[in-house]
Amino acid sequence: MRKKPEELRSHRWYGAKDLRAFGHRSRTAQMGYDRSDYAGKPVIAILNTWSDINPCHTHFRNRVEEIKRGVWQAGGFPVEMPAISLSEPFQKPTTMMYRNLLAMEAEELLRSYPADGAVLMGGCDKTTPALVMGATSMNLPAIFMPAGPMLRGNWHGHTLGSGSDSWKYWAELRAGKIDERAWQEIEDGIARSPGHCMTMGTASTMTSAVESLGLTLPGAASIPAPDANHPKMATLTGKRIVDMVWEDLKPTDILTAAAFDNAVVTVLALGGSTNAIVHLVAMARRAGIALDLDRFDALSAKTPVLADVRPSGRYLMEDFYYAGGLRALLGEVRDLLALECRTANGRTLGENLAGAEIYNPEVIRKRGHPLLAAGGLAVLRGNLAPDGAVIKPAAAEPRLLKHSGKAVVFEDYNDMAARVDDPALDVTADSVLVLRNAGPQGGPGMPEWGQLPIPRKLLEQGVRDMVRISDARMSGTSYGACVLHVAPEAFVGGPLALVQTGDVIELDVPGRRLMLRVDDAELMRRKRLWKAPSPRYARGYGAIFQKHIRQAHEGCDFDFLEGAAPTPDPEIH
Ligand code: FES
Repeated sequence: MRKKPEELRSHRWYGAKDLRAFGHRSRTAQMGYDRSDYAGKPVIAILNTWSDINPCHTHFRNRVEEIKRGVWQAGGFPVEMPAISLSEPFQKPTTMMYRNLLAMEAEELLRSYPADGAVLMGGCDKTTPALVMGATSMNLPAIFMPAGPMLRGNWHGHTLGSGSDSWKYWAELRAGKIDERAWQEIEDGIARSPGHCMTMGTASTMTSAVESLGLTLPGAASIPAPDANHPKMATLTGKRIVDMVWEDLKPTDILTAAAFDNAVVTVLALGGSTNAIVHLVAMARRAGIALDLDRFDALSAKTPVLADVRPSGRYLMEDFYYAGGLRALLGEVRDLLALECRTANGRTLGENLAGAEIYNPEVIRKRGHPLLAAGGLAVLRGNLAPDGAVIKPAAAEPRLLKHSGKAVVFEDYNDMAARVDDPALDVTADSVLVLRNAGPQGGPGMPEWGQLPIPRKLLEQGVRDMVRISDARMSGTSYGACVLHVAPEAFVGGPLALVQTGDVIELDVPGRRLMLRVDDAELMRRKRLWKAPSPRYARGYGAIFQKHIRQAHEGCDFDFLEGAAPTPDPEIH
């Protein structure tokens, strides 16, 4: 049933015969609009996370105009609303600290203004989950417009990938294999167009996950930002949201438990970033769905990794798009998906996948020739991680997947930075490096420190991987035998806080175990002696953050933002 114009939420602002509505109309006239521009039309809030300091969203100034074009054409009234940008390369201590701030801003913008529907413009890492979390809590019709990946990097004809190649060539520079001039050329060639990181980092993983959830137009997440199909997609997104308002197609109609399973399968088949676990859990909880770590482990056991994209594979997102994009990949795992799920274009996921084809099976592998048959992610538990920890087994040297070693403990990031390369550090290739106080509260914001550096003296001996354990996250472009997201974190007294250098830690990925081989009585003794660190912030947003942030396995949302209880619309007086 289509809505009637007087049933629009914005009608309360514009349509009433009272002094307030007079004020709203006269102020809209002040902005140069005639009544015919908006009367009886859905008001579409376009949440634009553009800023001068976000390189991944530089094209959003143009894209917002293309979205507006679509909204106008479909008979809507577009209203651009800037929202905090969360620029991954620049914002400190980590954008993760501000994901919930953007989520709150998105929700409250939609609530406090006369919005009938929303276009969410995001892509750079945390912008995607944040916008979806806020829009889900507000639950107005909403569609996501992904920023799209940037073009492949290029240096002297060599392809360069975001993140992974910076580390690779930095190591070559330090080893004297390239000179300063080459390093400068790489700096100028690694990020050469608008768009988000073009490896399978958090940005590409999350925009793809949101597409498979059903919140974008089909195929939207894979289109490179500078491709002419990207502005076309933006315009079509603007057109579609107007109909979504008339149809009253809301996030809760789309975001079912089955849709979240589809998103998890997508992340796994892409060999995607471990950060997606934290974000999907938080997004699901906003929709009132209890997605937990065990669901990731269960779906991981049957989902093959098919995207041969860095850092797990060889190619980049531009190649992935030419190979058929996300639709082609999802078509290949069709039997693992709930195809009946509704999506933003009004059709089911299954209908949207009709005719999807893989054009290059080198980049998007066929089922019979996967990058990994199953098990892209593993969830570990044990006395060191009672609430869970995660590892990407394929990123680790296989010999380390079942490993016991003596702990070398770093109290925090600064302690690690000061000591890890010390020639006197008592460490061997069999040691287990432990970094604590890097979690949601300890980091704060759970920074991407989980790929602890291999001590220099071991690097010189040829060691390239070792077991590393932390309560931090890891960049989606990282790799290694890194156990991440240990919960509860050390800062709140989790068992990671009790480990001492020399303790034996046992990692058993096939058995899904992470054990500290110290007896319970000794652990109790250490717990009694443990002193909680003092809070990091006495005031401001940091104080709210540390008071309300949830642990990693709960998605790191604020406790007061979780759940699906409706918040009343504002009174209009
Ligand atoms: Fe924006 Fe990587 S820096 S996605």
